[in-house]
Amino acid sequence: MKTLVFAAALLLGSIMPSTAQAQSSALYQQLGERSGIETIVEEMLLGVADDERIAHYFADVDILRLHKLISEQVCNVSGGPCEYTGETMAVSHNNLGINNADFNALVEHLIAAMEQQEVPVSAQNELLALLAPMHRDIVE
Ligand code: HEM
Repeated sequence: MKTLVFAAALLLGSIMPSTAQAQSSALYQQLGERSGIETIVEEMLLGVADDERIAHYFADVDILRLHKLISEQVCNVSGGPCEYTGETMAVSHNNLGINNADFNALVEHLIAAMEQQEVPVSAQNELLALLAPMHRDIVE
């Protein structure tokens, strides 16, 4: 079901990117602004750390730094007043060997975190559509 939602978001992202952009500032509000986003990313990373399918990718990663960077990125793409200061998705995920199943597993944790923060489903899908184009730079 969650994979289905993501597939729908992927499709939405590819056919209606300008609509997603136009609503992006409202999206930032719906995600709970900076503090809401930081909580969502924290919950997502906790879920990832507990998920034996993908936890191994993060074994040697500075999680506080990763939390800061993903929070900046989500804030930025959702229309918030943040600059993303990390590497490109292509550079940071290069040679990690991430596949589709890994990608979907992380997205499951993102959705669960947004559910927990009671983000409306339409806003969840909007964020997923904005992240969907990154898939091609992350998955090998
Ligand atoms: C839409 C999905 C994703 C987004 C938005 C995202 C975002 C990010 C960001 C912002 C960074 C930090 C970049 C930097 O170091 O400057 C990062 C690093 C990383 N990501 Fe992702 N990521 C995604 C999917 C995934 C997936 C599916 C995996 C593995 C299952 C993954 C594994 C990693 C790892 C291991 C690093 C640390 C690399 C390093 O420090 O050498 N990411 N990601």
